Amino acid sequence: MKPHDIVEQNQAIQPQMVTVEIEGKRFQVPAGITLMKALWYTGQDVIRGAGCLGGFCGACATYYRTKDDPKVKTCLACSKAVEDGMSFSFMPAFPARKATYDLTQLTDPKQDLFELYPEAPLCRNCNACTEACPQSINVREGVWKAVFGDFKAVSEMFMDCVMCSMCNPVCIADISPNLVAVYASRAQGVHYTDKPEGLESRIQEIADGKFTHDWDRVLKLSDEDLQNTSASTS
Ligand code: SF4
Ligand code: SF4
Ligand code: FES
Repeated sequence: MKPHDIVEQNQAIQPQMVTVEIEGKRFQVPAGITLMKALWYTGQDVIRGAGCLGGFCGACATYYRTKDDPKVKTCLACSKAVEDGMSFSFMPAFPARKATYDLTQLTDPKQDLFELYPEAPLCRNCNACTEACPQSINVREGVWKAVFGDFKAVSEMFMDCVMCSMCNPVCIADISPNLVAVYASRAQGVHYTDKPEGLESRIQEIADGKFTHDWDRVLKLSDEDLQNTSASTS
């Protein structure tokens, strides 16, 4: 007879299961897997919403609620683990308006913001965008900084923005904060950030053909010659 605390091997290797609700249907899934893996595990058709699987692309924006908590929160399905009693659904595509512009043609980008995104200064400070952001960005403050022309601060604040757009549907002023931030960050790079020393002159040297001869020579090398000429990586 076995001691009472010994379990059968097949019992020991069975994963611990939790119950989750996906788009309103209940499933049993292994504890500790990500929401994305739970979708696959339960055979869901993930046609859109899966991208990098590493928390960078923002494709897997998801709403979820934990057991007995009425608050609906946001997360990236590839970076959040399931919990027993959790409910979740992918965020549907949101038809945000994206302004089109050629940054090099803008003469006063801080003023042009009001033409491209006239709703930006109508922010009502509700903070819903900040609460919706799975990347913990102070989105509300970023919108205000953009409106007041502090594009440098915006570009730094939104460095971790994954463009999941979860800040869009919650905005009572119909602002798309991430698109405003992308505009401000691009304008900062093109119009207000000092270019690295030597960059302009190197671009000019390339345009003047200074390296054309060397480049042509490299393109004509055989694989063997390339290996012999290249620096060893070992
Ligand atoms: S700022 Fe908006 S788009 Fe960017 S990560 Fe936060 S919620 Fe997503
Ligand atoms: S959700 Fe909209 S109105 Fe509310 S703070 Fe954010 S940008 Fe402003
Ligand atoms: S799949 Fe890219 S952030 Fe989740």
